[in-house]
Amino acid sequence: MKLALGVTGGVAAYKAAELVRRLQNEKLDVQVVMTRAAQEFITPLTFAALTGQKVITDIFATAGSGPANVESAIEHIAVAQRIDLLLVAPATADILGKFAHGIAEDFLSTLYLATKAPVVVAPAMNVNMWEHPATQQNLTALRARGVHVVDPDEGYLACGMTGAGRLAATESIVKKVCEVLGLRHDFTGQTVLVTAGPTCESLDPVRFLTNRSSGKMGYALAEAAHRRGARVILVSGPTDLKIPQGVDWVPVRSTEQMQRSVLERAREANVAIMAAAVSDFRPAAEQDKKIKRGDGTFTLELEPTPDILAELGREKGNRILVGFAAETNNVAENARGKLLRKAADMIVANDVTQAGAGFDTDTNIVTLFLRDGRELALPQLNKFDVANRILDQVLDIQKHSK
Ligand code: CTP
Repeated sequence: MKLALGVTGGVAAYKAAELVRRLQNEKLDVQVVMTRAAQEFITPLTFAALTGQKVITDIFATAGSGPANVESAIEHIAVAQRIDLLLVAPATADILGKFAHGIAEDFLSTLYLATKAPVVVAPAMNVNMWEHPATQQNLTALRARGVHVVDPDEGYLACGMTGAGRLAATESIVKKVCEVLGLRHDFTGQTVLVTAGPTCESLDPVRFLTNRSSGKMGYALAEAAHRRGARVILVSGPTDLKIPQGVDWVPVRSTEQMQRSVLERAREANVAIMAAAVSDFRPAAEQDKKIKRGDGTFTLELEPTPDILAELGREKGNRILVGFAAETNNVAENARGKLLRKAADMIVANDVTQAGAGFDTDTNIVTLFLRDGRELALPQLNKFDVANRILDQVLDIQKHSK
């Protein structure tokens, strides 16, 4: 995963070098961005040597006329799109003010406006500056906007005063970054198989039957399990989504191909989460030539596809099995039926007719149905958070089945 570390001009800038090392220990790829003032305290060379990457500085951002600025504008948009998180440590009162007011006058403040990634700031400054209402109001505004703040420690400050304003301990900053990114180690040693996306059943060389699944929920599950330390096998029907890094990606098209890959790879997995919207029927016979229009009506004969989840349920063993149920009515009744019929440990059900739930949305509203009879209704969450709640429940089932 990629993180941009913004270093701003304070005495604590030297501590950012140690921070880079610790973030790299968490397998994060760190791109350093320095403000002009930061370079008065520590040189870009230090960070370039630690990261093996060009450090982005404002000299680069404003050097020369036309072409350099165009290049810089393109660069900050590119960085903004590439990163999974923006961390600023140390963050001066000045940069907090720029962020709070949307002032984009250097690379770092522009990056803040241009990125959709989560933002973490670790302020460090003189105690009076820290306590000043201007700083505190800026922080209140940033917090309200979802920016994560790692509060400074109290102690002896470089200016000779004692009080709050010392950059938080490196470990506290790393901990916050991991928390925001969902990097935990609670799935280490587990292999999670996830299915995602739709399946496509061919009628003839140019036509197929499919459904509206985008694959977003399954991909979020794969990403979340990977970030929590699991080895992940993602068996995916056709989607437009970016292949998650570090995941064993197995592309398939038809239900039959998905069935083959799942049954083969499930042997390695101790958790299987079937988020794919598998076709229930396929054409009884696939034509090898394009079906012609002809006269009158056309009847298509369909035959049922194999139920992959139910097959896994029959040879379940200790493997935790999670199924999905996308429903338009009688959600609870249908979900409970699937729990039993497919011998699953959990069914994640949603009413796809609800706004903010189901296919091709970034959020989902689901209820988790468990074998012990419990029903956990989750609020509307983004699919990454839903994925983490499902994984939390998998750990809970494992804990109670020991
Ligand atoms: N599933 C599967 N193989 C199929 C159909 C579904 O593995 N051929 C899995 C899905 O991945 C999902 C769960 O079974 O995890 C429920 O899918 P759904 O289509 O809701 O259930 P069906 O059993 O097909 O029931 P119905 O279509 O009647 O609601």
